This record gives sequence, C-alpha cells and structure tokens, in this order.
Amino acid sequence: MFASEPGRRARSRLSTKSQVPTKVLDAPKSPDIAKPAAAPRRKTKLALVARQAEMPDERGGLPPKIERYLATAEVPSPCLVVDVDIVAHNFLELARSLPDARIFYAVKANPADKIVSRLARLGSAFDTASMGEIDLCLRHRVTPDRISFGNTIKKERDIAAAYAKGVRMFAFDSEAELEKIARVAPGSKVYCRVLMECEGAEWPLSRKFGCEPEMAADLLVRARDLGLDAYGVSFHVGSQQTDLTQFDKALTRTVALFREVASRGIELRMVNMGGGFPSRYRTDVPSIPAYGQAIREALARHFGDRQPEVIVEPGRGIVGDAGVIQAEVVLVSEKGGADGRRWVYLDVGKFHGLAETMDEAIKYRLMTSRDGGETSPVVLAGPTCDSADILYEKADYRLPSDLKAGDKVWILATGAYTTTYSAVAFNGFPPLASVCI
Ligand SMILES: Cc1ncc(COP(=O)(O)O)c(C=O)c1O
Repeated sequence: MFASEPGRRARSRLSTKSQVPTKVLDAPKSPDIAKPAAAPRRKTKLALVARQAEMPDERGGLPPKIERYLATAEVPSPCLVVDVDIVAHNFLELARSLPDARIFYAVKANPADKIVSRLARLGSAFDTASMGEIDLCLRHRVTPDRISFGNTIKKERDIAAAYAKGVRMFAFDSEAELEKIARVAPGSKVYCRVLMECEGAEWPLSRKFGCEPEMAADLLVRARDLGLDAYGVSFHVGSQQTDLTQFDKALTRTVALFREVASRGIELRMVNMGGGFPSRYRTDVPSIPAYGQAIREALARHFGDRQPEVIVEPGRGIVGDAGVIQAEVVLVSEKGGADGRRWVYLDVGKFHGLAETMDEAIKYRLMTSRDGGETSPVVLAGPTCDSADILYEKADYRLPSDLKAGDKVWILATGAYTTTYSAVAFNGFPPLASVCI
C-alpha cells in the first residue's frame, strides 16, 4: 500500500535538498498529514487550489512536472511517479462538473499518503474497502462522516471496528451482510448495491458485486426492520466506462427500485453512482464535463424535481492520468518461426503493477527513450518466470526497431490500480516503488 523500500529510498532522496533541483523540490513540500478539515463546502474547496496543474499536451507525452522530475531524480526502476497537482485538478474538474454530488475518492485506486492528504484538504470524502483504508483516512484526519465502508464483503469484526471509530455508512448486497451490519453497527446508514452488466467498460465489475433489484427492494425493507437507516442504492457501471448512456440505464433501474421501496413505506434518499470515470489510455475518452452533463441530465430525467443526494466514487478518473511508470527494457529477443515479432521484456509486468493488462483489458500508452525513428511490432512481457506475465500479445503494439536492453520505457496513465496490485516479492522482485511529487 505504501511506497516499497526502494520507493522510500527515493522519497528520502527527495528530502535531501542538495541532491535535487529546487524547482522539483518546491512541489512536494505540502505536508503528508492534513489539518483537521472543516465540513466540506464547495466554495472552500475551490479556494484551496494553490497551484495550477501542468497538464500534458492533448494526447501528448509525459506530464511536464513528471518529465522534469525524471530528468534529474534518481529513482529505482520500475517506479511510479504521480503528480499530485494533476490529482487535485481532476478532483476539482469533477466537482465542478457534478456540483451537487459528494465525491468519495475510491482509495483502492491509489492510497499514497500525499494523494489522500491532498484530497482530504480539498474536501473529498472517501470510499474504503478495508480497515487498512479506513485507518489510513483517519490518520489523515478525515472525519468518519466522510468515510463510507463501500465493500459489500466485510468481516463482522471489521464492521464493528469501523463503527467503533465512528463510521456510519456501509454498503451491502446480501441478507447475511445486512445482518452483520445490524448486529455490530446499529442504526447505521446502509445502501444496497445492485447488479450491473457493465457493458462497454474496459474493466467491468459485473457479477461479483450487487444483487438483482427485486432482492435489493426486499433487503432495504429488511434493513429498516433490523433498525438500520435504509439510506439508498449504489451501482457501478464498470471501470473505464466510456459509454455515457450506461449511467442513464443504471438510473432507470434505480428509480424503479426507489418507487418499489417507497410503495413499501421507505423513502430512500441517496444514489451512489460509483466510479467509471476514465483515464486516457490508447483510445480517446469523453471529457469529465461530458460525464457530468450525461449524469446530470439522466438524474433530471429520472428524478425530476425530487433529486436524491448523489454520491460518486471515482478512482481511476482522479489518479490514473496523474501517474507515469518509468521502467527499463531488460531484454529484446526473437524466437524464430513465422511470427517474426520481437519480444520486449520490461522490468515491470503483470505481477508488479500492470495487473490490468489481464486479457489485455487496459491498453496503456507507451513512450521510449528512442522514440522518433522506425518502429516494428512487438510482444510485450514482464520479467518474471511466469508465462502469464505477458502484457500485450494480441493488441497491436509497435516500438522503436533499435530498442535495446537498458533503454527507458514510460508507461503513461498508470496512477490508478498499479502500486496496489503489485506483489510483495514474486520471483524476488520488490514491489512497485512510487513517489508523489
Ligand atoms: C465500490 C467501488 N467504488 C468505486 C470504485 C472506483 O471505480 P473507478 O476506478 O472506475 O472510478 C470501485 C472500483 O473497483 C469500486 O469497487
């Protein structure tokens, strides 16, 4: 969850002023631990933006601050570098696009201290999946009313521990989970997650989470009978969801559920629309304001002048584009035979941060230190002794024909779901290091 050993070394180098150009050092000065945040009010949030983020060119290369940092800093390889100003920019852009929604950052996307701390100071609330994430938020002085325990699969003792620390908002999608919450977190706000097909999402979250709407209605009634506050409904349209009509589709289901539950005497008050907001990988994605507009219009269509409280839980859309992994080529080889493609092995693979290349689902943009010349097709793989550690074999990747061992490769938009997926010591490789600047 935190920067690995090499990452910590990189960070301590950062604090050694003489070794790092002042321009780079100026940026990461903000303290890791936020001051106690006042109640989140939109006006205060916007006033807190101290720095303008430097965004990469349209469809372009490295974010400028990361490029400057990597030009001089000594970091281990591979290493994720995250520009926290871009994280703040993304958060604020979403806040402006959905002014009536509360944003709960999905901590699982990247739990780095500086990210949580900056978002906490901007007034974000937090979607958490475990006690580890809850404690992390509390360490950053996030008050428990800004924490939702959003995992539908929780140990009863963890629910009790969260409740003891003041958390009062819990997700569920089954009767057994609801009973656990009722036993150890009496009176809490609970919301039921409904199943979604997640059509069009590059990283679907279907099947495992949520229940059918008919069951959700019964469970919300049961929640009230168990003495809980039947607060609302949640869904997730799938991560990296670029089909904006999916939010409308999900709300059609949600509003029907609101009506059904109302007919049974319960006024639900909240819709949690999950994540789905994108990063820019190889294909173009709609802008965050376009997501905002689609969601606002869908809410107006379905709820009219009886708007519920709205929550969104972005992860990827906040941190993905803010990070770049700097990696290194370990080997370029050929295998003979008809295929003819070169195999390029990097020092980072599926087990050290690039898990979302599973089934070639997420297709990262790559840059190398030899860009500009002739390119030819490659198969891209990680460094471990596991044959599952192939990143791209079917997707059409081309890299410079003169690429060699030792050359640098930058994997763009890797701020989300990388450090958290990295194995501790598979094959003896250290977990993915990370630095926030
Ligand atoms: C409950 C929940 N909320 C939010 C998210 C974040 O989704 P995204 O990264 O697509 O914004 C996830 C992702 O797994 C999730 O499970």
